[in-house]
Amino acid sequence: MPLRRQLAVWCSAFLFLSLLFSTLLTNPVFAQAQGKSFPWMNNQLSPDERAAMVVKEMTLDEKISMLHGTGMLGLSPMSPLVIHSNGGAGYVPEIPRLGIPAIQMSDAAYGVRASGENGRYSTALPSDIAGAATWDLQGGYEYGALIGRELRAQGYNMSLGGGVNLTREPRNGRTFEYMGEDPVLAGKMVASVIKGEQAQHVLGDIKHYALNDQESGRNAVNVNIDKRSARESDLLAFEIGIEESDPAAVMCSYNRVNGDYACENKYLLDDVLKKDWKFKGFVLTDWGGAHSAAKASAAGLDHEEPGWIFYGDDLKKAVEAGTVPRSEVDEHVRRILRSMFATGVFDNPAQKGVVDVLGGFEVAQKIEESGMVLLKNEQGQLPLDVSRVHSIAVIGPHADVGMISGGGSAQVDPPSGNAIAPPGKGQTRWLVPVWFPTSPLKSIQAKAPGANVQFDSGADPDKAAALAKSSDVAVVFGYQWESEDMDLPSLALPEHQNDLIAKVAAANPHTVVVVESGGPVTMPWAGQVNAILEAWYAGSRGSDAVANVLFGDVNPSGKLPVTFPRSDADLPHPTLVKPPKESRPNYMQRDVWKQIAAGLPAFQVTYDEGVKVGYKWYDAENKPVLFPFGFGLSYTTYSYSNLQVTPGKNPRVTFTVTNTGNRAGAEIAEVYASLPASASEPPKRLVGWSKVQLKAGETKEVAVDVDQRYLSIFNVEQNGWQLVPGEYSFMVGGSSESLPLKQSVNLN
Ligand code: BGC
Repeated sequence: MPLRRQLAVWCSAFLFLSLLFSTLLTNPVFAQAQGKSFPWMNNQLSPDERAAMVVKEMTLDEKISMLHGTGMLGLSPMSPLVIHSNGGAGYVPEIPRLGIPAIQMSDAAYGVRASGENGRYSTALPSDIAGAATWDLQGGYEYGALIGRELRAQGYNMSLGGGVNLTREPRNGRTFEYMGEDPVLAGKMVASVIKGEQAQHVLGDIKHYALNDQESGRNAVNVNIDKRSARESDLLAFEIGIEESDPAAVMCSYNRVNGDYACENKYLLDDVLKKDWKFKGFVLTDWGGAHSAAKASAAGLDHEEPGWIFYGDDLKKAVEAGTVPRSEVDEHVRRILRSMFATGVFDNPAQKGVVDVLGGFEVAQKIEESGMVLLKNEQGQLPLDVSRVHSIAVIGPHADVGMISGGGSAQVDPPSGNAIAPPGKGQTRWLVPVWFPTSPLKSIQAKAPGANVQFDSGADPDKAAALAKSSDVAVVFGYQWESEDMDLPSLALPEHQNDLIAKVAAANPHTVVVVESGGPVTMPWAGQVNAILEAWYAGSRGSDAVANVLFGDVNPSGKLPVTFPRSDADLPHPTLVKPPKESRPNYMQRDVWKQIAAGLPAFQVTYDEGVKVGYKWYDAENKPVLFPFGFGLSYTTYSYSNLQVTPGKNPRVTFTVTNTGNRAGAEIAEVYASLPASASEPPKRLVGWSKVQLKAGETKEVAVDVDQRYLSIFNVEQNGWQLVPGEYSFMVGGSSESLPLKQSVNLN
């Protein structure tokens, strides 16, 4: 063989072998196999012991490499290592020398994000607020477990879901991603979701910590709030969520709180999260939420995403110069490793596989069926009786092809893209509404095969009204789209939908409105229609679930996790505070991350309503509402009796619920308490509930144990929860405004 040829063969062989070797080294399975011989792979040891052993073996460079991400396409510089990323929002490379697996993060609020873009498939569950409207902790667990399974099947081992910011400002464009306005309901629901995710060996994350209650100016806003109010409202939701689910991570938010950015806020991160709540996991920034190295590290920030503006070379230099103690870096790394051991990321690495599409449909449909809220049902309009309804007008934008979904980083890709984008199905894009291919028209046709079911988009309200007039029943699908990176201009349905519904209602006395929204909407037409069903963002199988409720195959049982006010004017802040122009980042500019990181000029939002979030505000201010918190109708009726409150450390509330109608149903029985006057609290707060399944005519005894903290106030001087001695009234019933049972007891 000529020399040149021989050389070429040797070179190719060398290249091939080195490629093979590097692939093996960076292959999680290989790393895992290697890892078996590491002493920390002994799963009889505790996660803390295992993490401590690894930290001891790591070099400073290896440690720093775990404290930041590897960049994000289009937004920041990218590390060459990102080639091994699974295509999610965040990637932290593995360290084969020590058998430390990579962290593959994906957004997963109501399903795994960017699956279409990555050539995969994800189930879209109903939006998180719909999950909260089920008030069903087991359902929440199934919600999380489904996300966990699909993350693993797509090669991820960390979820960036778990949004639990309170609905303090209902025009917040991310209201659909959160769990409503009550800290106890939101905290318990998010905990059940995280438990479901982590049971699949996926690192769970709770976000956005904290008080990131509006999108407008989120990178600049300084939220002012007193400590007691913060601890009793927004922070309580996080406290409960963290305590009950032991999440691997908490994502700190973009905004400032009382002067400091959340991701370098010592009070939030160190004093409250790590010390008071004993959070064991790690804190990661929201994407681009870091603003310093030394200050953030001392305050308790463990990990920067998506890049390494501060937690790369800057942090390393600070350590070498002694301005950041090595012990701090060790602690950040230890927390990350501890979470990875505790969740099983080392012991049970994610294996790519096929997503169970049909199984996903089933879960999504079931959750939607139990999360929809029947808000009005006059003259027994619903359920529709197929034997008596001969013609149905299905009206509303895109109700022939799809249902709307929530946008931003929560967006789940529909199979084959947006159901409506011209000239056929299309891509999903940032800040463009995405309709899922779940067709109300088809689902209704399938339920009523003998009826004449016709569709009108409502583009011309008079034409739609004419169709309604000639039909037995008109079902109007109204929508309000929300997304990250925007807030709603108002709670009113957009475009001319109010006019459309009013015209249809005037033409047909049997008008039913199905609302697809991410939160409360105002309804000037509520008095003119017979029935209203809140369907939220309904997920992959939304239209079948809606049809099941419309035709009575499912008895609705969801209750509102947010108040529906009468108008924007009744909100604590009738006008949302927007940033002045100079503090709005221009996302089109290349160095936008640097501008944000350097800190945008602050503008102030003051939450002077304090603890009075949602129903607590309307109660305290005596403002009548459209539909109260905790409200929801059923096709049957319930009665309450025999209240008994047994005082004690955690008082026990027992009562009886009877299904007084003629069909089976599930009643969410709610327990509220009012505190002694000296506590200076709003008139009442939710302290517990039970979702009770009852056959027609059946009666059940219900017991709810009330955690003493839910009856307490936060004492800032003592830095702890305090039960104010005195008279407490316990109230029980089917909504925050229908509480037929009441008993007062003295607690001290
Ligand atoms: C969002 C986070 C999200 C992150 C990564 C940010 O814009 O606020 O909720 O997890 O992006 O996509």
